[in-house]
Amino acid sequence: MKLLLLLQFITVNAILNFKKHSLLNTTDHRILSNVKIYSNLAEIIQPLGKLPLEFSAEDWADIRSDSMTLIGTNVNVTQQTITEKKKSLNNLPVYIRSPTSSHTETKFLKGTMIDENRNLVKVIDKDISKDPVYLTVPANDIIYEDEPFQSKYYVNFTYETTDAVYLSYLRSNLNWKTRYQLSLFEESKSPIIIAMADIRNDGKSRIDVEHAELLGGDINLRMFEQHRSERYEAREHAVMYSISHAQLSTGSPPPSVSRGEEVAGLYVFSINQPFSIDAKTNYILPMFRPQLGIVLK
Ligand SMILES: *[C@@H]1O[C@H](CO)[C@@H](O)[C@H](O)[C@H]1NC(C)=O
Ligand SMILES: *[C@@H]1O[C@H](CO)[C@@H](O)[C@H](O)[C@H]1NC(C)=O
Ligand SMILES: *[C@@H]1O[C@H](CO)[C@@H](O)[C@H](O)[C@H]1NC(C)=O
Repeated sequence: MKLLLLLQFITVNAILNFKKHSLLNTTDHRILSNVKIYSNLAEIIQPLGKLPLEFSAEDWADIRSDSMTLIGTNVNVTQQTITEKKKSLNNLPVYIRSPTSSHTETKFLKGTMIDENRNLVKVIDKDISKDPVYLTVPANDIIYEDEPFQSKYYVNFTYETTDAVYLSYLRSNLNWKTRYQLSLFEESKSPIIIAMADIRNDGKSRIDVEHAELLGGDINLRMFEQHRSERYEAREHAVMYSISHAQLSTGSPPPSVSRGEEVAGLYVFSINQPFSIDAKTNYILPMFRPQLGIVLK
C-alpha cells in the first residue's frame, strides 16, 4: 500500500514536472522527454505521438512491453493492442544457389520468393525447363536483396480524455548508481569524498534525454544532514568525467546534479540540462561533496 501510494505520488509528480519541461512530440523513441532513472531501469514519460506508435525491434528489446500505458490527469484507456509485424519477403526477388552448381563452380539464379515460411522459390532456369519451376531451397542457399527479419512493433490505444495524455513505459537499458571517490590531497586537509552519479546506457543506440531525475534509496542520509547548511554549488566544482564519449553541447556548462530531496525514503536528484549517452556508455556526473569527520593517522 505504501509503495502504491509512493508510486502514485511519483507519477503525479512526473506529470506536474513534465508540464514545466518539454512539450516535444516525437515518434523517435531514442529522444526521451522525461526520464526517471532507477538503479535497475528507467521510467519514460513523453507526450503521446501519432497512433499507432511504432518501435524498432532493437528499441523493443529494451522496453518492458507490459509497462506501456497512458497517463494523464483524466484519461481512461479502454483498449490497447501490441502487434508485431515482420516485413514479408514474399514476392520479393532473391538469389539462390543453382541446383546445377558443381563442387568447383557455384551458379546463382535469380528467383522470386513465393513462401518464406517454406523457403519456396520460383525460378526460371533454361538448364532445367523453359517454364518456371518451384524449389524448396535450404535457408543457407538463399541470398536476399532486402534486409530480412526486421520486425516492427506497433502499439495502439483506444482512450478517452479531456486533458493532455502522456505515454509511460519502463526501459531496462538505462540505470544509475552512485560512485564514491575519496580524495586525500594533503595530509593537513581533511579528506574529501566526492559522490558521483554513474548513469549507464546499456542499449545498442545513443539516447537523448531532455529532462532526467535520478531516484535512489541507498544514499546515506547523514551525508545530507551534516552539511545541509553548507550550500554546495555543484557547478563551481563541476568536474566532468566521461568514460567513452558522453556528449555535451559545446559552449554550455556541463549538466549538474541537484542536491537530493527525500520523498518517503527515496532520494530524487534532478539533472538540470538535457544530455545524451552513447550506446554502451557510462556518463558520470558529480553529485555532492560532503566532508568527512575522519582524522587520518
Ligand atoms: C504536438 O502535437 C499536438 C497535437 O497533435 C500539437 O497540438 C502540438 O502543437 C505539437 N507540439 C509540437 C511541439 O510539435
Ligand atoms: C488504433 O486505434 C484507433 C482507436 O481505436 C483506431 O481508430 C485505429 O484504426 C487503430 N489503428 C490501428 C493501426 O490499428
Ligand atoms: C473516466 O472514467 C471515469 C469513471 O468511469 C469517469 O468519471 C470519467 O469521466 C472518465 N473520463 C473520461 C475523460 O472519459
